[in-house]
Amino acid sequence: MIQAHGGTLIDRFDQSYDTSALTKEIELDSFSLSDLELIGIGAFSPLTGFLGKEDYESVVHNMRLANGTVWSIPVTLPVLEEKAATLTVGEKVKLVFNGEVYGVIEIADIFTPDKKVEASNVYRASDDAHPGVKKMFERPNVYVGGEITLIKRVQHDRFETYYLDPKETRAKFEELGWKRIVGFQTRNPVHRAHEYIQKSALEIVDGLFLNPLVGETKSDDIPANVRMESYEVLLDKYYPRDRVFLAVFPAAMRYAGPREAIFHAIVRQNYGCTHFIVGRDHAGVGDYYGTYDAQLIFSEFEEGELAISPLFFEHSFFCKACGNMASTKTCPHGKEDHVVLSGTKVRQMLSEGVVPPPEFSRKEVVEVLIRGMQKVHA
Ligand code: ADX
Repeated sequence: MIQAHGGTLIDRFDQSYDTSALTKEIELDSFSLSDLELIGIGAFSPLTGFLGKEDYESVVHNMRLANGTVWSIPVTLPVLEEKAATLTVGEKVKLVFNGEVYGVIEIADIFTPDKKVEASNVYRASDDAHPGVKKMFERPNVYVGGEITLIKRVQHDRFETYYLDPKETRAKFEELGWKRIVGFQTRNPVHRAHEYIQKSALEIVDGLFLNPLVGETKSDDIPANVRMESYEVLLDKYYPRDRVFLAVFPAAMRYAGPREAIFHAIVRQNYGCTHFIVGRDHAGVGDYYGTYDAQLIFSEFEEGELAISPLFFEHSFFCKACGNMASTKTCPHGKEDHVVLSGTKVRQMLSEGVVPPPEFSRKEVVEVLIRGMQKVHA
């Protein structure tokens, strides 16, 4: 089994942790609640807490933690200035969401980041039209760093069985006898192009780990509960049951393109994957990133810095002249033969009840999505 990133799978979950002597609390938003949980269960190994100033600066400027380990996305705990003024380095503080204690942080650092630098280095953007940048600027201005303990798990109404911790997915892969496992990140329904690159990858490994991100996404992305049902239907009808495993990635989407691709790969290594798919404009939004920037960024690291192997795929589509799924790498025909629809266009079609062509999306998937999107808009 592949090692966790940094060598050790972190486990900082302790539900018997006694918080009765702690008086101070920090109120989490849903973004930091998901980060807390993901740190606690080891999905963000080797992180043991929210980044302190030294690691933060190092991540923002060098894509590495201060000790040199690759880490591309700052995982931070933002608090209001008024709150920060009441906190002291060295103390333990409860982490609270909706009145319930989910964890504790031992404060090692309290600092004010330069968010403009974070925006340009991490997101390669500066304007509020970028959803990740907008979110970052909307969140409070002081960051609190320090090791955490996760005390309470987040409950989910539906699809609870798809929430597996890295140690559980690792055990599952072992049980299935898979040695080479390819991870697939998505924040969308699985369309034919996704299916094509997943199955192309599956041809050369033992198993596919379909790992949709279900944390906070921008409001016009298709909601996770609608997507989950579409994944179930698709797997049931079109995938070999013994070669695909579906579990969710309960993280917030950053839309940080190339840097997020590195982050997504590292996290999937922690879940036990040996390979990770990076297609066109991975984790991108609008026109902020070049189509293959999220692939090119992998060459910025030395051999051995990342244990997981990225599998790169070019822009894929159904080609009418080929009569097949194909990509810009394998198809000799022109754009006029390619069935390509933008995400915006597809969302618009689905919410109006218009069926995208079967070359773009499986009809069973479309049925679930149209039903789901109409409920969302009702
Ligand atoms: S993402 O924000 O989670 O990356 P999305 O769910 O659309 O968005 O993509 C999931 C993965 O499939 C990413 O690796 C992305 O690069 C890849 N991908 C999406 N659409 C295509 C396509 N038409 N051709 C090739 N790769 C694609």
